Amino acid sequence: MPRITLRGDCINKAYRPHLNNLHRYQIYFGGAGSGKSVFLATRCVLDTLRGRNTLVVRQVARTLRNSCWNEILKAMNQLGLNRLFSVNKSEWTITARNNGAQILFAGLDDVEKIKSITPARGALTDVWIEEATECAYTDFKQLDKRLRGLSPHPKRLTLSFNPIARTHWIYKEFFSIWRDDRVYSESPQVSILKTTYRDNRFLTPEDRSALENERNPYYYQVYTLGNWGVAGDVIFTNWRCEALPDPVPGECRMGLDFGFAADPCGFLLLRYERKERRVWVIGEIKETGLTNLALSRLLAPYASLGPIACDSAEPKSIAELRSLGIRAYPARKGPDSVLHGIQWLRQQEIILSPACAYLREELTRYQWQRDRDGVALPRPRDQDNHLIDALRYALENDMEDRRAQTGSKKALGL
Ligand SMILES: Nc1ncnc2c1ncn2[C@@H]1O[C@H](COP(=O)(O)OP(=O)(O)O)[C@@H](O)[C@H]1O
Ligand SMILES: [Mg+2]
Repeated sequence: MPRITLRGDCINKAYRPHLNNLHRYQIYFGGAGSGKSVFLATRCVLDTLRGRNTLVVRQVARTLRNSCWNEILKAMNQLGLNRLFSVNKSEWTITARNNGAQILFAGLDDVEKIKSITPARGALTDVWIEEATECAYTDFKQLDKRLRGLSPHPKRLTLSFNPIARTHWIYKEFFSIWRDDRVYSESPQVSILKTTYRDNRFLTPEDRSALENERNPYYYQVYTLGNWGVAGDVIFTNWRCEALPDPVPGECRMGLDFGFAADPCGFLLLRYERKERRVWVIGEIKETGLTNLALSRLLAPYASLGPIACDSAEPKSIAELRSLGIRAYPARKGPDSVLHGIQWLRQQEIILSPACAYLREELTRYQWQRDRDGVALPRPRDQDNHLIDALRYALENDMEDRRAQTGSKKALGL
């Protein structure tokens, strides 16, 4: 390995001991802007020169280019080490010239690539899952299996993320050793480091004050303080993400929320098992700028599966879709339909295919509005809920007894 002298101050202090951390499972979690991604990108560059082969993973392949790929190139630049690497933009590989070790990139949505990807020389020694809360437990297990077999380097699986909800599988899997009043815990296999924006001396004053002035109490906990989000803050916790059985049981349901410019339109393909009260979410579409014609083309493959329940606020769009061969019909949306729908959905078991990254994001963030004293109101935030609306429309006919309990704070879990 070439001798490299690092300026001591180019890596935030909290992370320095972890340059040589060899724990099998490494967790870097905490607030936004805390320097997690930059540190892990920097370490990855240095480790490649030591002969480690790293696979960098995110749920959605196309989000890698603007995140980890760029961070790693920036880190190479900042360290002044560009000449020691060859970068192949079309293959998405970065190779160290001294030893042939590689950094590879793949999205969990690209199953074939994940299965087949291997470094040119030697075995994979590292997997870094960025924004690991996006990733399903089954995918994590598969990646873990990829790190078996002999190698001169101890194998490591590194996860970085913001702690969005204590109900997440990562919490169950790793955080039994964790104490909320500490910033570091370890066992022989697992190390957990928590950082916040205060650990990142490179943040601009504007970034700092944006985080300090965050007014949403949930965001403040999770993104400013880096604490595990409390389930009570989010409306839905009765869902999980896992590989779906084939075939998926239940009856087909489809829902569509219209949108065009700023708001995307959202479509969901589901199956519902009434007796089990189980909703399977098979597929999603969430896009802005779709004309009804373009939308009808995207929906064409589903047209034969059944009718699609749509946002009744747009009768003209519904009529247009119908003339284009899509069996669209207006959802009824009675009084209190939003609250009733939420209440009903909270009593179901909702299972998402790992392909449904947008719905997962909406479910993770969907919260009650709060009044000025921070008291939760029986009214969801009307923001980022396009697929959740589609979910309600799709299942509207399954929600019997529409008047039951509606509006009672207790029934809504408040
Ligand atoms: N070692 C560093 N050198 C220079 N800038 C850094 C460093 N670490 C973090 N930063 C700056 O702080 C910002 C936030 O860091 P980042 O790693 O993206 O945080 P996180 O992943 O924890 O949200 C980066 O965009 C970068 O501008
Ligand atoms: Mg990050």
